[in-house]
Amino acid sequence: MQKIVEKLQNGLKGCVEIPSDKSISHRAVMLSSLAKGKSLIRNFSNGEDPISTLKLFEQLGVKAKYIDEKTLEIVSEGKLSAPLKALDCGNSGTTMRLVSGILAGQKFNSTLIGDESLSKRPMKRIIEPLKLMGADIKSTDFHAPLEIKGAHLNGIDYVSKLSSAQVKSCILLAGLFADGITKFTEPFISRNHTEIMLKYMGADIITEGKTVSIKKSALLPQEINICGDISSVAYFIVAALIVPNSEIILKNVGLNPTRTGILDVVKAMEGNIEILDKKNISGEDVGDIKVSYSELKSCIIQGELIPRLIDELPVIAVLATQAQGVTTIKDAEDLRNKESDRIKSVVTELKKIGAEIEETPDGFKITGKKQLKGGCEVETYHDHRLAMSLYVASLICERPLIINDFNWVNISFPEFEKLFNTLIN
Ligand code: S3P
Repeated sequence: MQKIVEKLQNGLKGCVEIPSDKSISHRAVMLSSLAKGKSLIRNFSNGEDPISTLKLFEQLGVKAKYIDEKTLEIVSEGKLSAPLKALDCGNSGTTMRLVSGILAGQKFNSTLIGDESLSKRPMKRIIEPLKLMGADIKSTDFHAPLEIKGAHLNGIDYVSKLSSAQVKSCILLAGLFADGITKFTEPFISRNHTEIMLKYMGADIITEGKTVSIKKSALLPQEINICGDISSVAYFIVAALIVPNSEIILKNVGLNPTRTGILDVVKAMEGNIEILDKKNISGEDVGDIKVSYSELKSCIIQGELIPRLIDELPVIAVLATQAQGVTTIKDAEDLRNKESDRIKSVVTELKKIGAEIEETPDGFKITGKKQLKGGCEVETYHDHRLAMSLYVASLICERPLIINDFNWVNISFPEFEKLFNTLIN
């Protein structure tokens, strides 16, 4: 589907509640499926990725039904049953990597498959540590399909070179079924939703600095309330900062410190942003965000900040085109392994619309402030975050932008455009 977006004539104004967190939605289905009894998931995401996870667990014998549009009831025996056919993870790396950890220690065999983009993404990062635990996994040169034979697992003390929540979560979930203690250490702390939810559901898990340890545990069913996704909110934050005369409030946003790198960047760029009404829901920090149009300065984004804003980097690149000076993004080489090679795809598409952006091996250099021109077609590379970032850029382009295959937004945020329209006068 092609989308033609024109420059906004007025600022964005108003208040909007952003849909459910994708990362937490995946974990809510996975952990509820492992807990014996009835769990309730409130504000479950309707993105295609979390729905891939839900369908997959139904194939593993879990019963799921919607109580209302956004509330999901999961009933589980507390153990999974052998699937009748291959399990389809769609476009979702989180599904494939986390579920591999769960399936490695079951008493049955299974196969995980994915779409064209997911089948190109690296799985060595999970296969290697899982094998050290005793897992039996066959792949094609460390890519999907993954054939997993149920095996007896033992705990490991694994020091990861990557700061990756998907790898960490995979190993911790395998640790739920392993003998002994499973320990995972990462260079910088990545999102910790798995740890928070495992603890909330009664697992024997401890975090000490950058190391998490878990022992075999039975999970208890719970009621889980999912907050709004800061990664989806990021598009609204950037739009309000770069479209003159904007002032908006974003309600019920997840503010887990392992995810709020974008707020630190906006502050470093001297953007007008404020957190209102902070509280804790189902173990996660939540609050409202007020943000308005700002004169921005460039900054350097690197090191421990990267895992805290990894999914926001494409839209942060758009933001940097409107900040005075050179913004440098470093240490983000893993961006090349996302739904697209996000270093190449962001640079190629932003250059087309008039940005001054340079590709580096591990990030970008962006010189602002530049008037974006638009008036051309841009591509989305099977990548929802690229589609939404280009939409935000188009709001300030001189001429309309034609975004090809815009429907990839449905992967995480089907209501994206509808919610933007509520803020346009
Ligand atoms: C995710 C972790 C991140 C992120 C992805 C979702 C998760 O990946 O990019 O969109 O839910 O655990 P990595 O942990 O591999 O960086």
